[in-house]
Amino acid sequence: MIQLDHSGVEPFLDEEAWERLIPRVLAAHNTLLEGSGEGSEWLGWRRVLSVPNDALLENIEQTAAEIRRQADVLVCIGIGGSYLGARAVIEATSPYFSSAPVEDTTPRQPEIIFAGHHLSGAYLKDLFSYLDGKSVYVNVISKSGSTLEPSIAFRFLRQWMESRYENASVRIIVTTDAHRGALYEFSKAKGYRTYAIPSDIGGRYSVLTPVGLLPIAAAGIDIRSLFYGAVAMQNDLLSPDGNLALSYAGIRHSLLTQGYSVEVLALFEPRLSSLGAWWQQLFAESEGKNKTGVFPTVAHYTTDLHSLGQYMQDGRRDLFETFVLIDDDAGITIPPDAGDLDDLNYLLGKTIDSINRSAYEGTYRAHGVGGVPIMTIRLDSLSAENLGRCIYFFQHAAAIGGYLLGVNPFDQPGVEAYKSEMLTSLRSL
Ligand code: PA5
Repeated sequence: MIQLDHSGVEPFLDEEAWERLIPRVLAAHNTLLEGSGEGSEWLGWRRVLSVPNDALLENIEQTAAEIRRQADVLVCIGIGGSYLGARAVIEATSPYFSSAPVEDTTPRQPEIIFAGHHLSGAYLKDLFSYLDGKSVYVNVISKSGSTLEPSIAFRFLRQWMESRYENASVRIIVTTDAHRGALYEFSKAKGYRTYAIPSDIGGRYSVLTPVGLLPIAAAGIDIRSLFYGAVAMQNDLLSPDGNLALSYAGIRHSLLTQGYSVEVLALFEPRLSSLGAWWQQLFAESEGKNKTGVFPTVAHYTTDLHSLGQYMQDGRRDLFETFVLIDDDAGITIPPDAGDLDDLNYLLGKTIDSINRSAYEGTYRAHGVGGVPIMTIRLDSLSAENLGRCIYFFQHAAAIGGYLLGVNPFDQPGVEAYKSEMLTSLRSL
């Protein structure tokens, strides 16, 4: 279950502007549902949830089961929308000190390692030392099939696999466009197993396609709960009444027009760090064009309260915060200590998570007094279903955010500009 509390924004909102905005939010919602807005050829992320393909889910589960039986490590090669969603879900549902999901009791299963998401030679060198002696599968994921970072990583990983396995082509799985691209052609030539990325789904909206679902399933996470959580959220958000995504998108837009141009997604649970990175891409690429958009950035609380906290309390007042809180409790209580030399006995019997909630409440009050508009998103647990709900909630809100700004929420000309300028530099090396 997801809740959105926006009472910490209300004192800051210009009421008249808000009243004027409501019909525009409703119009943007209709535009999305009708598929009549700019970029409507990219609405496949809604389509796949409206008509779930259970055969595809089953096929992915079977491939994942094979990987789990055979591999010590699955290396997922991809960048941007081709890896952030999988990493977000895997890290959110995995225990801190093992890659094995919490509910899984089997001894060991593949560790999921990401590659091709930067250009660090040291990382690649360390990766090959780490892989030595382990049973490895590779899933290379790229919609265009030609993005530089994953293409380079794949060349190295492919050669490494071919030097070690006679059946390397069985251990390499490709996720790419259904009809075109270098990776598509490569895959056909080598006979790799291939999953198609639907042509009407862009990178940052693709986590609930094979792009995210295969690595997530290989990590032992229940992809049906994840997927159908998103389906349920899509259904919940069909009506504009009590619609959390419309409230969130409308408030963000309103704050932007009042000069609050930076949103800090403040996570009170470190397992959500990668979900923060996925959220950041989603909103930056959906809104940041035509010289407008809220700048999305992520903070990790309480850690960053000891660094960014000063700025949040008393720096420039052009930012707002969206806190993300998980309402579960691991039940770890503060133990007694006879001497009480650390002066902590006043917390005796309290759980760490209840102390975290007190930290949230204190931060909420302090930053509110400091002039920061605050929203809070609460999840009752980090279940796969809730993550699916959360993913759809943010995707719906990002689309509405783009329409409110008058931009196409589904293209990313800025990313393409960087890619082509980098290629120009490289070709002149
Ligand atoms: O959202 C996007 O389209 C981008 O961030 C891409 O996901 C990223 O550049 C990777 O592209 P590709 O999947 O084509 O390798």
